Amino acid sequence: MNLARQIEQYLPRQLLELVKDISGQAAKRGQRVYIVGGVVRDLLLGDPSLRSGLRFDLDLVVEGDAVKLAQQVAETSQAKSLAHHRFGTAKLKYENFTLDLATARRETYAKPGALPAVTPGTLKDDLLRRDFSINAMAISLASNDYGGLVDPYQGKSDLEHRLIRILHPGSFSDDATRILRAVRYEQRLGFELETQTAQLLKRDIPMLDTISGDRVRHELELIFEENQPEFVVKRLAELGVLQRISPFLNGDGWIAEKFDRARRLKKPTQLPSLYFCLLIYSFSERGIEQFLARLNISAKLSRAMRDTLRLKTSLPLLDKSSLKPSEIYYLLREYEPAAIQANAIASDSSMVHHHLQLFLTKLRYVRPSLNGEELKRLGIPAGPEMGQVLQILHKAKLDGKVSTKADEKKLVFSLKALDFHTDPEPSQE
Ligand code: CTP
Repeated sequence: MNLARQIEQYLPRQLLELVKDISGQAAKRGQRVYIVGGVVRDLLLGDPSLRSGLRFDLDLVVEGDAVKLAQQVAETSQAKSLAHHRFGTAKLKYENFTLDLATARRETYAKPGALPAVTPGTLKDDLLRRDFSINAMAISLASNDYGGLVDPYQGKSDLEHRLIRILHPGSFSDDATRILRAVRYEQRLGFELETQTAQLLKRDIPMLDTISGDRVRHELELIFEENQPEFVVKRLAELGVLQRISPFLNGDGWIAEKFDRARRLKKPTQLPSLYFCLLIYSFSERGIEQFLARLNISAKLSRAMRDTLRLKTSLPLLDKSSLKPSEIYYLLREYEPAAIQANAIASDSSMVHHHLQLFLTKLRYVRPSLNGEELKRLGIPAGPEMGQVLQILHKAKLDGKVSTKADEKKLVFSLKALDFHTDPEPSQE
């Protein structure tokens, strides 16, 4: 099988030129370079747009020293090289593209979940250390074999049979993040877990406990970047994987419906936090603290997730038609926007939904038109008094009692006449 045509067709021209330059320079050093990883899979599927966001961050494997090769390429081209000597890897950055060059390596795991010990190896060793057969193929870039598919573990056949298959029985226990990855690919591609892979996956679910919070969280983040993460979440629950991460998690139809709603509402960049807030919506206070600690969730996202549950208990206060906009504002101003959005999606009350949306789309942006300088000119001294006036103006604006600057000035004058014993109005009004 030769994929030269697909490479030429799908890879952006500038990226292709750089790849050819790398492979040419490698040949002079007596080294061979291969494209590896998800791109090979997607090129074979004939749809590289399956790659999230159409990013072409290309993974290359070098049989030889990848760091030296990257440095040499950087010296003779406009690409910038960033080396990780310890891992024998380097990044080449050029325009919008990033190329990861890795020295072909063999990996051994001292204990489950640990980072592997790495020694230089052949391409075949490098492919064998990978997660699934469909991700363990390479495309040769050598001039005498340009586009040649290297497929020692029957990845192409598994692609044709739509199967996710691990490469050896110890794969999930070596690296239990693969349990989450297997389901992510299964759902993204509409594939099935090959029979033995499914059995081993279930057997090794407890190995998830060997994985650090950061790594588990990263896998959840990757799931949340999928087009329809709810399918992955549901399947993880079906397999009993989700419950191993937290016994409070479930992937029922509620999640599916709410994730779908979230997607209709939000820009993709804001979606991951929202998915996290919806994921824990049925949690108890104890459950959330365990979950935040287990996944080492950032301070900001933790705040949004805690706020989600805190606001959930206050929702009855928002279920009244008589609420003034300023009352809605004061009830909600302390909460993270993601928490408010999650509650707007989760609540069954149309009144609550309306009030939360009103805050998110309008009320939180309302500010008085008059600023401190202008108030000073109107005779309001800086300090607590000005703070009070600004608050009154803000409230009046929220409630639609003032709309123009002139309205606000009128209100300031009436306040002065009533409560504020300040100097007479300056003449410039
Ligand atoms: N890989 C692996 N085990 C992991 C993570 C990654 O074997 N735990 C290997 C796979 O061969 C994978 C490659 O490293 O194809 C690159 O990883 P990643 O960037 O996560 O995957 P892509 O296939 O490039 O991207 P995606 O699958 O999301 O399209």
